[in-house]
Amino acid sequence: MIRFLLLVSMLALWAGGAPAQPLLDWTAEEIRTVRQHGPWPPPPARDPSNRVSGTPAGIALGEHLFNDPRLSGDGRMSCATCHQAGREWSDGLAKGKGAVDLDRRTPSLWNIGYLHWFGWDGAGDSLWAQSIRPLLDPREMNGGAARPGELLRSDRALACGYEKAFGEKPGPDDERLLVDTAKALAAFQATLVSPRTPFDDFRDALVAGDRERAARYPLAAQRGLKLFIGEANCNLCHLGPRFTNGEFGDIGIPFFVRPGEVDPGRLGGLARLAASPFNLLGKYNDDATGASTRRTRHVQRQHSNFGEFRVPGLRQVGRGGPYMHNGSVPTLEDVVKHYSEVSPDRLHSDGTPLVRPLGLTTEQSADLVAFLRSLDADPPPAPAPAPKSLCP
Ligand code: HEC
Ligand code: HEC
Repeated sequence: MIRFLLLVSMLALWAGGAPAQPLLDWTAEEIRTVRQHGPWPPPPARDPSNRVSGTPAGIALGEHLFNDPRLSGDGRMSCATCHQAGREWSDGLAKGKGAVDLDRRTPSLWNIGYLHWFGWDGAGDSLWAQSIRPLLDPREMNGGAARPGELLRSDRALACGYEKAFGEKPGPDDERLLVDTAKALAAFQATLVSPRTPFDDFRDALVAGDRERAARYPLAAQRGLKLFIGEANCNLCHLGPRFTNGEFGDIGIPFFVRPGEVDPGRLGGLARLAASPFNLLGKYNDDATGASTRRTRHVQRQHSNFGEFRVPGLRQVGRGGPYMHNGSVPTLEDVVKHYSEVSPDRLHSDGTPLVRPLGLTTEQSADLVAFLRSLDADPPPAPAPAPKSLCP
């Protein structure tokens, strides 16, 4: 009998490739929830406040500028120094290293075009406004507000790329050229969409009722996904196709930067947003309808914003790390341990706590990690090709 079973399973292996593994039972409600984490990829992102968003000429110019170290004060640092194509558009460091050491981690730029608040603290309300900060910040590229204008006017290829993108030659107004540089940079960054993952294949098969295809998704990942959308409540904040609601939360990561100095998170970001001449309420918003200003007009600073940071998207998360706004959590296993053991006293805000210690078993923790790893593209995305010449 045993020999017969062995023969049957060997035949099955030979005929069908991988051995069939069971599909867990999925309730209609679970399937509805899983469905909401797709489809992937989403339609291209368009930003009405940026007139070169989605245009081939704007994207091409932005890609060149993204890799151009001449935008920095010492001529040695480009956006790509910290946001590296081969490192999930981040740098693998716990904290960014600019002209000086920074206090926060360099976030990945995957799927950045679909967000509505930018930076760990939401100090930017558009991708282009957020792209101005590193250019000017003395702690980052420190290029100065006039540098992009000088470069666009003096470099023949860039001037030609600018004219193609914006329909006129670079003019004398340095601030306008600073903003336009950021708009081209934003057009390029919005094209960085992460590839499909094993999770996406599972989600599509489950929704289509294709049990055989769905069963190819490892059992541990299936169990982890059930936890993620169920008992562990991770998708209260990590929801939708990008696994983030794009808003802010407090999960009890310590906020001390140095003894006696704290990172106030979103509370500080909202103050900087209001003070910025480049926010969507200012004169550089290209959206004549005014619809894009709604969030910025209505957002209010509340004390509970203290110590809140933007909920990170989780696609490609296993290929990144260290984790959190300050790079203080080294591995995915440590992230899950944090959620398993976090003390409610560690939460900084006074609202209803959405995070509580989960007390996960060893197996549950491993399952959650297996699920998180299924959000990584397999095989990993090829590094971006070198930009083509702007004006052949
Ligand atoms: C010295 C390293 C460094 C350089 C150079 C750099 N960045 Fe960043 N970038 C960071 C860090 C650190 C943050 C997080 C800042 C924060 O939240 O306070 C960040 C945040 C961002 C964000 C927001 C991401 C998000 O998830 O909201 C965007 C967009 C961005 N950078 C684009 C750029 C562009 C465009 C350039 C070039 C003009 C650039 N960066 C240059 C380190 C860098
Ligand atoms: C209350 C909203 C909320 C809930 C619930 C929540 N998260 Fe998070 N998550 C966040 C925020 C906010 C951060 C970033 C915190 C920081 O940097 O200080 C984060 C960070 C992470 C990171 C690190 C990502 C990175 O790029 O640094 C992972 C992984 C993660 N969460 C997974 C989970 C899992 C798994 C669960 C369920 C056990 C969960 N989250 C529940 C809000 C939430």
